[in-house]
Amino acid sequence: MSAAPLMLMLLSVAATLAPGVLVAGATGGGAAHPAYADAASTFGPASGGAEVRLEEHGGGRIIDITHAYRPELPAPGRDGLGPVTQLTESMANGSINNVSELRMLVHSGTHVDAPGHMVQEHFEAGLDVDKLDLDVLNGPALLIDVPRDTNITAQAMESLNIPKGVRRVLFRTLNTDRKLMWTKEIDTSFVGFTEDGAQWLLDNTDIKLVGVDYLSFAAFDYLIPAHLVFLNRPDMIPIEGLKLDHVKAGIYMLHCLPLRLIGCDGSPIRCILMK
Ligand SMILES: *[C@@H]1O[C@H](CO)[C@@H](O)[C@H](O)[C@H]1NC(C)=O
Ligand SMILES: *[C@@H]1O[C@H](CO)[C@@H](O)[C@H](O)[C@H]1NC(C)=O
Ligand SMILES: *[C@@H]1O[C@H](CO)[C@@H](O)[C@H](O)[C@H]1NC(C)=O
Repeated sequence: MSAAPLMLMLLSVAATLAPGVLVAGATGGGAAHPAYADAASTFGPASGGAEVRLEEHGGGRIIDITHAYRPELPAPGRDGLGPVTQLTESMANGSINNVSELRMLVHSGTHVDAPGHMVQEHFEAGLDVDKLDLDVLNGPALLIDVPRDTNITAQAMESLNIPKGVRRVLFRTLNTDRKLMWTKEIDTSFVGFTEDGAQWLLDNTDIKLVGVDYLSFAAFDYLIPAHLVFLNRPDMIPIEGLKLDHVKAGIYMLHCLPLRLIGCDGSPIRCILMK
């Protein structure tokens, strides 16, 4: 980095800090750190994302579309996700701090699939979740409503009239209306892509990132074939289990960041929309 941008950056950091410093002065040091200037916005909504509602931050600038890892999240093959962290050291037991361990399937809650999830040659080629293109994961995205009486078939895809050039689409479906991510039991009647819907998308659009509102982008009856249509294409990124409750349809800046899990077939992912 050359000197000029560095200077600009330092100046803008100083500008951001200034209000906090002023507050600290005015309150006699009560809010010494800028992060404490406004405790309410620092810590977000009190309920911590465990409610079916729009989760806005920064006065509506940021919308969180990631599900909190609640024990009641639906999870295949088990009675809800259950607790995902466990204390391995605890102050109650005399340790100097509390330290938790994280343990869950990487395809839990809001998550992303890597091409190696189902395609052996991609797995062998090392197409793990760490190789996913951050440029595809971050950029303008369209949030669109799928007609509620259908899975995402070729016909449904065609009816959506998604313009060429759109690279990222979040599909909101009947799953959101039915609050399926808020229902502990897995419901196999969820809406997702059929094989011909997935193929139509590849053949007729420029979409590289597909977001859906349940744990699988492929409808249950097309679980493997529809997954394979996308995952065969190493440049397609499916994001599953998004929290799209009460978000207005339209165009946003999408930001999604997976964990850098080397060699892994998927990852929990934090996704936000910015206006
Ligand atoms: C703390 O100690 C109790 C009693 O020995 C034990 O049951 C518990 O698992 C310990 N917890 C941690 C986090 O070490
Ligand atoms: C640490 O964990 C204990 C449970 O062992 C809990 O009671 C306590 O509130 C925790 N403290 C902090 C600072 O997180
Ligand atoms: C979508 O497909 C599933 C089977 O995978 C089916 O149970 C469900 O009724 C379909 N939903 C709609 C709205 O057609």
